[in-house]
Amino acid sequence: MNALGKAILSFWQSSIGKKLIVAVTGIILVGFLIAHMTGNFLVYAGREAMNDYAYFLHHFLHGAGIWLFRLVLLGAFILHIVATIELTRQNRIARPKRYEHDDTVQASKSSRIMIVSGLTVLGFVIFHIFHFTIPVSAELRDLPDPTDPDRKDVYLMVIKGFQNPLVVLFYIVGVSLLCSHLSHGIASIFQTLGLRSEKTREAIRKLGWAVAIILWLGFLSIPVLVGTGAIEDSGPSEGSHASVQTEGAES
Ligand code: HEM
Repeated sequence: MNALGKAILSFWQSSIGKKLIVAVTGIILVGFLIAHMTGNFLVYAGREAMNDYAYFLHHFLHGAGIWLFRLVLLGAFILHIVATIELTRQNRIARPKRYEHDDTVQASKSSRIMIVSGLTVLGFVIFHIFHFTIPVSAELRDLPDPTDPDRKDVYLMVIKGFQNPLVVLFYIVGVSLLCSHLSHGIASIFQTLGLRSEKTREAIRKLGWAVAIILWLGFLSIPVLVGTGAIEDSGPSEGSHASVQTEGAES
């Protein structure tokens, strides 16, 4: 093995190396979530805005952009999961029973909860990809944009995708678990990067909660508003605007 290979291996084998990997990949994943939630808000701007955005994402750098982005996202996701599991395993082996006291038991309980909520998020993401990215439901497949049949009607796919109350319920559970994972995980990133002191501990804890709550509200607003009928498709003839059912808008 060459020197670089050895350095990478010893970085991976060290506990701090894996913690850094979890923290850095966590930053990438939180960054993705903030960007994805912001992009999703275009549903409120209507069909044209949402479909323009999806078209841009799929054609950026002649279509190579989205694959580059998927590669980074998938790599970050896999490394985040594998490093967390390895860290927990390593800690369990390294911790002698006689040193177990309340703090250690608490820490291992919380890392177990992080692993369980993290793996549930993995299940949610797999479902979500088969819901919207590679729709398995015939109803959500092959939806051309009425103003440009060469483009996908992502807007209609989202509206139709949340018509089923069970799907909405699944999203509520999945996103809630994701955000509970984040409420703890964001503060841990600061700790791993040495950015948390006794003085800033409380502020960072609150920041973690604030980001998690904003993401929770932002992501869930769409399935809940569509699922309850507060937002519905205004129909191809009206073109580009979602109708928000506030004052008896026409159907
Ligand atoms: C709850 C509200 C959400 C809505 C309305 C939504 C909407 C969408 C849509 C429409 C796509 C497909 C885009 C396209 O093919 O053009 C997509 C893809 C994706 N979403 Fe979401 N999403 C939501 C929540 C989430 C959450 C919470 C996560 C992460 C845990 C997530 C992760 C992803 C991923 C990884 C992709 C695949 C990106 C790709 O490679 O194409 N989404 N989402």
